[in-house]
Amino acid sequence: MSIAEKFLAMEYGPAPEDPKEALTWLDRHGRRFGHFIDGAWRPPVEGVFFDSTDPATGEKIATVSQGSAADIDAAVQAARKAFPKWQSLTPHARARYLYAMARAVQRHSRRLAVLETIDNGKPIRESRDIDIPLVARHFYHHAGWAQLIESEFPEYVPCGVVGQIIPWNFPLLMLAWKIAPALATGNTLVLKPAEFTPLTALAFAEICQEISLPPGVVNIVTGDGSTGEALVKHADVDKIAFTGSTEVGRAIRRATAQSHKRLSLELGGKSPFIIFEDADLDSAVEGLVDGIWFNQGEVCCAGSRLLMQESIAEALIEKVRDRMSTLRVGPPLDKAIDIGAIVAPVQLDRIRRLVDQGVAEGATCWQPQIEMPSRGLYFPPTLLSNVHPTSIVAQQEIFGPVLTAMTFRTPAEGVELANNTVYGLAACVWSESINVALQVAAQLKAGVVWVNCTNLFDASCGFGGYRESGYGREGGREGLLEYLEPSWFKHAPALRAVERLPGDSPGRQQQTESAIDRTVKLYIGGKQVRPDSGYSIEVRGGNGELLGEAPLGNRKDIRNAVEAARKAATWARTTAHNRAQVLYYMAENLSLRRDEIARRLAAVVGEIQAAKEVTAGIERIFSYAAWADKFDGAVHNPPFRTIAIAMNEPLGTVGIICPNEAPLLGLLSLVLPLLALGNTAVVVPSETYPLVIGDLYQVFDTSDLPGGAVNVVTGCTSQLLKTLAEHDDVDAIWCFADEASAVAAKSFSVGNLKQVFTNEGRSIDWFNAKQGEGRWFLRHATQVKNIWVPYGE
Ligand code: NAI
Repeated sequence: MSIAEKFLAMEYGPAPEDPKEALTWLDRHGRRFGHFIDGAWRPPVEGVFFDSTDPATGEKIATVSQGSAADIDAAVQAARKAFPKWQSLTPHARARYLYAMARAVQRHSRRLAVLETIDNGKPIRESRDIDIPLVARHFYHHAGWAQLIESEFPEYVPCGVVGQIIPWNFPLLMLAWKIAPALATGNTLVLKPAEFTPLTALAFAEICQEISLPPGVVNIVTGDGSTGEALVKHADVDKIAFTGSTEVGRAIRRATAQSHKRLSLELGGKSPFIIFEDADLDSAVEGLVDGIWFNQGEVCCAGSRLLMQESIAEALIEKVRDRMSTLRVGPPLDKAIDIGAIVAPVQLDRIRRLVDQGVAEGATCWQPQIEMPSRGLYFPPTLLSNVHPTSIVAQQEIFGPVLTAMTFRTPAEGVELANNTVYGLAACVWSESINVALQVAAQLKAGVVWVNCTNLFDASCGFGGYRESGYGREGGREGLLEYLEPSWFKHAPALRAVERLPGDSPGRQQQTESAIDRTVKLYIGGKQVRPDSGYSIEVRGGNGELLGEAPLGNRKDIRNAVEAARKAATWARTTAHNRAQVLYYMAENLSLRRDEIARRLAAVVGEIQAAKEVTAGIERIFSYAAWADKFDGAVHNPPFRTIAIAMNEPLGTVGIICPNEAPLLGLLSLVLPLLALGNTAVVVPSETYPLVIGDLYQVFDTSDLPGGAVNVVTGCTSQLLKTLAEHDDVDAIWCFADEASAVAAKSFSVGNLKQVFTNEGRSIDWFNAKQGEGRWFLRHATQVKNIWVPYGE
């Protein structure tokens, strides 16, 4: 037998990791854990416990506490008490704690890896080589941010007390992704780990004690969904950060809509893994192994939809099957195992049910003839081909080692198929042509795109989704901003009834035209159009006199406006330089009509304010023309031979509800940042002075703004807001009217989880550029897409 033959004939022997240290740690705690509240272990108030089991053996590992509303309340109180002191520590002092956490994670890395594996079922190779090193990296990186926070984010303050809820697929890594940025920015927190995998969070609690973290800064309450719900509903929590299923994300969105809690959601995915005919197929297949069979496929960004260019499909499937036949499924503590155990019986049932349903819908199911363990929760690597794009297995997250394969012909068709999902978390593109790969990456609706690589993560790069994969980012600068607020905004007073400037009062309009002349129309697709209802509303000045009539827009008008806005998507593709030119032109045209516009506006807001609004409005347009080609992304250097290009992409079509207190300046302050960065808008002007549109459409028309980039529908704000918030083709809502509108915007968009940016019913001084313009608005006008590109041989 030749050496090569011997090599091929060799069998794997068992290579078990020794779990002794982890088991000793569990024994030291009597295999029974309370909650970690205010720096100490506390038994659950209601005395209820539950077991955490090893999915590979079904054996009980430990007993943990079921958190009740009373436990959550105690933890939130502890976090609140600890907040002022933690917030006022020097950045360096906070940095030292984070640094100590990183060191402690490294010190206990083997124990943590084993604990993770026995609690979750993931291969030790992955927990040891991927999860735990990334945890340490996250704390190191954020220790650095803690040090720099005041110089890099001047005028920002922490949200306060943060509630964090994490899933079971990367228990300690998700904890790190949540805790590190929250602490670095000066928040205190209550974290609830997933019920299937609480142990490494409890080990982390002990690390907090070990490094003498001040009591109450980190609190960990274990329990199931009801514990999470109590945290979400607690009145004294300022922000909720959640990772988990889209369904629960939606429930959390519903539960927080009535409050001012900040919310970030990292939800499910059905990420495409696109392979072009010119790809290096062997590398792509290895990528695929990482893409879908890493962590048993229980990965939110798993490359679960294989999209193959038709010409290579047959050869590729052959290679994939060959490779699948070499995967080893078995006890996760064995160092030579590729696929470990599924986390819990309910998840295994879910995988089986979805695969059966896919087959019933016509998919062909292929599984390799490989050895499977006789006990424990295992599912073999599975390939579903001949899948119709509408099949449940092409649309729903399976969260298991199941790959769904489909074909496409042209790059355009590939992109269409890839984007044919409600999700938008991640995507992979494999092509040896950098042009094709980057062109496709730019068109994919996903927060992360890996080019010729897959499942790479780093603390310096933002991670998070588009569409129903959630919003907000974890990692990098953008991740920190999820835990910070502009200081002025945090302390802004509640919006009161519209107030006039001292000495100003709405003057009688100097009538150079009759009221009837001031009857405006809707502005849709670059044209003035009559409202579908055929009705108008009277608009009156501050003295009660009739100023004119504005159309009473309805749902149909909003739908037409959204359609026009979507058709104008080319605005996003014009160069930033061109957008700047159009905005400058707009400022020029507004200047030309400054006096007549101010004169008319004065009837509503008074002469002094009217003049100020027009002047500040012109300046604001200039500011955003300036920003249009300067709000750049970044290039990150993660510690691999890869660059990650962080692009600020427009959100798409945004619905805007304008403030009443500054009818012209408020409208411009919201429309301009969106336009500058390539969004299109459907605007509902203030109810106090919808006639403002009569002055603006000429400005838009004469400034080369393409029809449909801005559309204006006047009418009853609450009704129009509802239609906008519910509309699936509106990507985000910017709502800056009163508090009731802010709540309505969030509530009505629960179904499609769109981003809502609002003043939370607080007062914004639109005349103050520090409040009314700049990066805060620009950041909300974009979402970051990280495109990872490897280099080198
Ligand atoms: P889940 O979304 O129910 O659980 C995630 C976390 O949310 C857990 O800590 C859980 O206790 C908590 N939770 C549950 N209900 C809650 C509520 N009403 N309010 C607040 N917190 C609540 O996920 P689950 O049930 O464990 O898995 C179901 C499916 O969700 C999976 O099959 C998978 O498709 C998806 N999933 C996606 C994840 C992701 O990272 N995108 C992670 C985990 C699951």
